[in-house]
Amino acid sequence: MTTEDKLIKEILYTEEEIQKRIKEVAIEINEHYKASDEIIIMPIIKGGLNYTYDLIKHIKIDLSISLIKASSYHLLEKLSTPKISLIDDINIKDKDVLLVDDIVDTGETLLGVKKILETFNPKSIAITSLFYKENNNEELKQIKSFVCWRKNPKGFLMGYGLDYDEKYRNLPYIAIISYN
Ligand code: IMP
Ligand code: MG
Repeated sequence: MTTEDKLIKEILYTEEEIQKRIKEVAIEINEHYKASDEIIIMPIIKGGLNYTYDLIKHIKIDLSISLIKASSYHLLEKLSTPKISLIDDINIKDKDVLLVDDIVDTGETLLGVKKILETFNPKSIAITSLFYKENNNEELKQIKSFVCWRKNPKGFLMGYGLDYDEKYRNLPYIAIISYN
């Protein structure tokens, strides 16, 4: 028995809609990296894991996976700075790195991760995410992005990697949380 039903205000994207959109984004990614020998897929855990798992099935370029961890939320309360830690040995020198996350909100996590990775001299760093909120940060705008949905979602999201208090990442759909 789960408590998810009480928390759901609205289902934003169903499992079928998510899978359909991922295939479309994978086509963009394949096109962008068609001349690349290998891409390093870097899921930002834990939120980027579900998306990574489904996305890589459609990637036609040689790839390897290297995990990175970032956390910025406690319940609905944002921590002031994201905590970032490398998990795997990093071997990204002169490689194309594609970060995978659930949502780019303020972009602080992405900028923090990028800053750390740049010290390892990769050839390029790009991001793919389910959601990417509109932002006027110039540094963020310079980062190449492949995004499933750019429209700002109108609430806190859960499911398909997105958590509320570490739960509901396993839902195959994405829902908006009800605050009542
Ligand atoms: P940023 O650093 O502000 O871009 O925050 C990015 C991170 O915050 C994401 O990777 C998520 O883990 C988390 N986050 C932001 N918005 C939501 C949401 O609506 N639901 C669940 N997690 C979220
Ligand atoms: Mg996250």
